[in-house]
Amino acid sequence: MERLQDRVAVITGAGSGIGLATAHRFAQEGARVVCADVDEDSGAKAAAEVGGLFVRADVTSADDVARMYRTAYDTYGSVDIAFNNAGISPPDDDSILETGIDAWRRVQEVNLTSVYLCCKHVIPYMRRQGKGSIINTASFVAVMGSATSQISYTASKGGVLAMTRELGVQFAREGIRVNALCPGPVNTPLLQELFAKDPERAQRRLVHVPLGRFAEASEIAAAVAFLASDDSSFITASEFLVDGGISGAYVTPL
Ligand SMILES: NC(=O)c1ccc[n+]([C@@H]2O[C@H](COP(=O)([O-])OP(=O)(O)OC[C@H]3O[C@@H](n4cnc5c(N)ncnc54)[C@H](O)[C@@H]3O)[C@@H](O)[C@H]2O)c1
Repeated sequence: MERLQDRVAVITGAGSGIGLATAHRFAQEGARVVCADVDEDSGAKAAAEVGGLFVRADVTSADDVARMYRTAYDTYGSVDIAFNNAGISPPDDDSILETGIDAWRRVQEVNLTSVYLCCKHVIPYMRRQGKGSIINTASFVAVMGSATSQISYTASKGGVLAMTRELGVQFAREGIRVNALCPGPVNTPLLQELFAKDPERAQRRLVHVPLGRFAEASEIAAAVAFLASDDSSFITASEFLVDGGISGAYVTPL
């Protein structure tokens, strides 16, 4: 499928995980991909792999974010797709009883303020073009509570969801669609390592997934490509759950 032929896509956090898998999927579908990451090595490697352009950007910096879209526009002549995906989930963000203000603020900056900055700086390009698709990465924890808390992470993703809904509604009649991607847990090296060390912890989570496994990053990337493409032309302001059924489940299969 080449649904993104000649579209210009900017992906934040393109050096790893969901962002990296999406860079590959976008390129397979014909897009010109701008890979942005704060990590120079992995970001440059991702760009080389997909024949795209690397831009070093810290998504918490307004200057970096503005430069990222300007570079994309100056190089390729448009900005059609923005996948605002960079995010962190550090270990010092835990139960509200343990989490300090510095950890709280850092997660809000990287996960939520970054999405504000990315949307603020990309929407003017899309308004001028009269079209665009923005996909902001939230999480299934934006719609469900968890007893194994990461309080600032959860609050940041709730913020991403609400902001996305509002932007999707505000700019709908200007040809700009804005959707929140809500992935369930993804099979990343970090997750594998954590659960290899602690099978009980893995089981405690897996029991809630009707499909009985975690997602592969490529399965999340497939959903992002759909939201980026015209195949989703009537979808905006949505909370787009790609969670293996977690959010719909009460009793799961044995
Ligand atoms: N992995 C999961 O299970 C899961 C589930 C739901 C939602 N998410 C969300 O999906 C997104 C991607 O997660 P992932 O698992 O692929 O993560 P990852 O850690 O594999 O990749 C994140 C990338 O973002 C980059 N990054 C971090 N801070 C940055 C900054 N300030 N500026 C620019 N780049 C920065 C990192 O260098 C890294 O390359 C995140 O927003 C995460 O919260 C992940």
